[in-house]
Amino acid sequence: MPVNGFQLPPGPRTPATGQFLEWVMRPWAVLDRCFARYGDVFTLRLARVGTFVVVSDPALIESVFRGDPRVFHAGEGNRVLRPLLGPRSLLLLDEDEHLRERKLLLPPFHGRALAALESLIRDVCERHLAHWPVGQRVRIRPLAQALTLEVIARAVFGLSGRQAVDDACVLLRRALAWAAERRRLFTFALLGPQRVERSGILRGALAPVEALIREEVRRARADTRLEQREDVLAMLVRARREDGSALSDEELRDELVTLLVAGHETTATALAWGLERLARHPEVVERLRREVASGGHAYRDATVQEILRLRPVIPLVVRLLKQPVALGPWSLPAGVVVAPAIYLVHKRPDVYPEPMRFRPERFLERPPGTYTWLPFGGGVRRCIGASLAQLELALALAGIVQRFDITPGRPGDEARVRRAVTWAPAADGEVVLAARSSPASTAAPSVAATG
Ligand code: HEM
Repeated sequence: MPVNGFQLPPGPRTPATGQFLEWVMRPWAVLDRCFARYGDVFTLRLARVGTFVVVSDPALIESVFRGDPRVFHAGEGNRVLRPLLGPRSLLLLDEDEHLRERKLLLPPFHGRALAALESLIRDVCERHLAHWPVGQRVRIRPLAQALTLEVIARAVFGLSGRQAVDDACVLLRRALAWAAERRRLFTFALLGPQRVERSGILRGALAPVEALIREEVRRARADTRLEQREDVLAMLVRARREDGSALSDEELRDELVTLLVAGHETTATALAWGLERLARHPEVVERLRREVASGGHAYRDATVQEILRLRPVIPLVVRLLKQPVALGPWSLPAGVVVAPAIYLVHKRPDVYPEPMRFRPERFLERPPGTYTWLPFGGGVRRCIGASLAQLELALALAGIVQRFDITPGRPGDEARVRRAVTWAPAADGEVVLAARSSPASTAAPSVAATG
């Protein structure tokens, strides 16, 4: 497709509005059809969103992820999230500003800090699982969301802010449920991020969460024991850039909302997909149980990797080009969005034999590749919560298979449904759980697992 001397990859010629509407409603159908017709690289013209060059060739994806961050802008590409997360969110920054903030945000999610979160996660899983309903059809995603939200809220606010954790969970779930209603998402998509942001409606919905964050930041700044605290909020209040400056209140607000939002919906959806798959694969559940009993974790970790491969929660990531770029045989102008397609790479038979089969063993035979296993994106923008999310999923799954027998809540595999930028199971991962033994009952989770 030559345009002004540039050579864009081929793609559908239907009007941009039609392409946009199908993209909003059934993006997987668009990707499958275009991959079958045009192959590894194709161009979509999406009204209101822009021109997307979708890439599923691992070698080209490597060149995108290793590309110059001054040319490949992920922050600008993510601007649809700006009305919700705020302009200073890590997800929305680019270039030096992004790298500076990323350095501050990484430490709470790695090394010692991550190891310290393990007992917190076990504790939250234990209390939540003890109250998951048995003997009836149950939708996992809302239950999982209560669990993952409590994990991230505890990690962020620390144990000292117990009341704050409970309040944050309730307020945030209310605000996100409001924002994620299908007709509202559709309206937001039609208005476009700028008008949504100007209208302030999303920020308005988050106002109670913001007020709570402001209060916790104020307390942390006044806390004489701040140095000893290990929660994310305290670490971020203490953090200093190379020039000695600290995060402002506004920056802290945007980063903390980002962590709370990005840190739980995705993980909960992955857990719902996990149970949707496990309910249909008792042989995997059996092997997991045997491994848990023997104290190992290789198969458990491979199972998490396989869930995220076969049912990636985020189907693609985006990089807005600031300069013309040569991508394989194509020459792309500035302004185009290059989109490594996680969903399509994960289904490549040349990388994953029998790609549609749920087979965790594949990752015991061959570990995930940097440019072929992409549930967390890649390069300098790779998800900072990837290790936390995988740990959480692994511990939750291990707890679930020990405690419950799992059968599907409905015949057949669950279809996908779009929820904002994620793809979720259409029936929220509906299963029937049966208690395997009767572990001692524990205190009810602080956040009611409803919704
Ligand atoms: C299964 C769960 C999760 C999935 C599938 C997921 C996926 C992703 C993806 C695809 C990206 C974009 C990467 C790119 O553009 O290359 C991302 C970025 C990000 N994620 Fe996650 N994520 C998950 C959990 C988490 C958690 C638990 C946290 C919080 C601790 C988190 C915080 C972030 C942040 C702050 C970014 C922006 C990174 C940057 O721009 O430098 N995510 N995530």
